[in-house]
Amino acid sequence: MRLTLLCLAALTVGISSNALAEGDPTAGRKKATTCLGCHAVEGYRNSYPSYRVPKLGGQKASYIVAALKAYKNGERSHPTMRAQAAYLSEQDMQDIAAYFAEAGEE
Ligand code: HEC
Repeated sequence: MRLTLLCLAALTVGISSNALAEGDPTAGRKKATTCLGCHAVEGYRNSYPSYRVPKLGGQKASYIVAALKAYKNGERSHPTMRAQAAYLSEQDMQDIAAYFAEAGEE
């Protein structure tokens, strides 16, 4: 009996950590506050800044994560986004990407 419970507990932990790795849109929403200053969820323009910024809402999560990694490791050279991506962890990227992917579906 004890052993069964232990196994169940291990299984539950396994499942919830998997869910986390896929990105949590609720956590991502908080982490994306800075991003929204530039990246509008609807439409391509936001009040600030006045130059064009790519739309992220509805973008595929995997695309967003790949792009953020490319900024972080220097494959993409845009200075603003390199600064933004520099402090993001893998989990931050996953969460933020999950939020933006979901934001476009409504
Ligand atoms: C100061 C304005 C600004 C902020 C803040 C900002 N971005 Fe960006 N972002 C840009 C601009 C400008 C580009 C286009 C850069 C380029 O041409 O490579 C861009 C590009 C991107 C791209 C690539 C989009 C594509 O279609 O290839 C992603 C993904 C992205 N930003 C995510 C984020 C995330 C996540 C945050 C918050 C952590 C963030 N950005 C914060 C201005 C900003």
